[in-house]
Amino acid sequence: MSNLELTRLRGFQDSLGADARAMSLVEEQARTIFERYSIKEIRIPVLERTQLYVRSSGETSDIVEKQMYSFTDRDEGETVVALRPEGTPGVVRAYVEAGLDRTDPEQRLFYSGPMFRRERPQKGRYRQFYQFGVEIFGRPDAACDAELLIMIDELCRDLKLPFTMEINSIGDNKCRPAFREALVAWGRAHWDELDDDCHNRLDRNPLRILDCKKDAKVTESAPNSLDYLCDECRAHFDTVKELLSAAGVAYVVNPRMVRGLDYYTRTAFEVMAGGLGAQSTVVAGGRYDGLVEAMGGAAVAGIGFAIGVDRLALALQAAGVTPNVGPDAAIIAMGPAATRLAVVVARDLRAAKLNVEMLSPEKKMKSLLARASKIGARIAVIIGDDELARGVVQLRDLKQSTQREVAVADAARVIADATTEI
Ligand code: HAM
Repeated sequence: MSNLELTRLRGFQDSLGADARAMSLVEEQARTIFERYSIKEIRIPVLERTQLYVRSSGETSDIVEKQMYSFTDRDEGETVVALRPEGTPGVVRAYVEAGLDRTDPEQRLFYSGPMFRRERPQKGRYRQFYQFGVEIFGRPDAACDAELLIMIDELCRDLKLPFTMEINSIGDNKCRPAFREALVAWGRAHWDELDDDCHNRLDRNPLRILDCKKDAKVTESAPNSLDYLCDECRAHFDTVKELLSAAGVAYVVNPRMVRGLDYYTRTAFEVMAGGLGAQSTVVAGGRYDGLVEAMGGAAVAGIGFAIGVDRLALALQAAGVTPNVGPDAAIIAMGPAATRLAVVVARDLRAAKLNVEMLSPEKKMKSLLARASKIGARIAVIIGDDELARGVVQLRDLKQSTQREVAVADAARVIADATTEI
């Protein structure tokens, strides 16, 4: 582009063609499966008070410390607002604001849309990215954790994604303080081996020292959360594992996974896929039993997760699961009379649930056939005056380079057979 000032911003993406199709495939499949699990849609604003995220995501989280697009809205009496960096705080706010925590606390909700974080852009990490998330309220039981993990497993398998699921328990308000103290004590004992980033984490949010990438070797000897669980948290985690095994879900316990947001309690989980380099986590979430109350609501349990739609789409493409973007049929009509039949044929094919693109009737056959191949159509439906007179169409299979004539009335069935047999 000649005018540099009009190009897109760093970390902001345009998605077209197969990339956009892969993202909608993830979204469509997520919606279908979530609805099968009786989870209902909620739509929430993209813009909220910055304070909402400070209070929920956590003052010491990377999101709040350095990644928010936050600004003062002059029209709103100098309110400081932010583009949402994640969906959970907005959903909790909406749930409390609607009074559901008191009137009808058990809720199963899903949401989707763009999130914004001013991160250092790289493959699979953008400043605007898309999440498809779920939040369940009023279910403190381990069966709920297991059901969500079973659902995620089902989604990834339906999408034919090779993946691994990691789970952990980070305890609750009762047992986590001891774990935190143990981490601090460990950090002090190993102070000289740790870099500034780790020192900073140890001061502000000791759990996150386990995420310290630079000193991963050193932190191998740090205490792990499972050794500090109280009896209730341990029993909860054991039940989650038991139910996953009963349902045949494969998982790995990773006692070093702590998650980057402050609200988590007990079960935390991440799903990893290959082909993404450093940004391999495609789904992540966990339980947050104290969050609703901390946000001014009743003491209601919560658990949820979000799919990183961009990343999951990239992982699918890396795994060779590339969705077809071309139509089932491209219609080529030669001349005005044939075009009148072509619109009827197109309507019938679409009524038979086939994807159809009508090409311009004002071009030559050769360039239209080239166009049909270029857009990835499986079949070219060719209609000329001769076909019109005899009530037939020519079906050219663009993959196999074969052609046959069929009666207009049979076209939909023949195309449907040809496009499903691959
Ligand atoms: P999160 O781990 O911050 O959790 O994000 C969830 C997923 O969103 C990540 O695993 C990743 O796939 C995707 N994601 C995050 N940041 C980016 C980025 N900059 N570019 C591309 N993809 C990204 C949450 O957001 C929690 N709200 C999840 C949750 C819901 N926990 C409980 N309920």
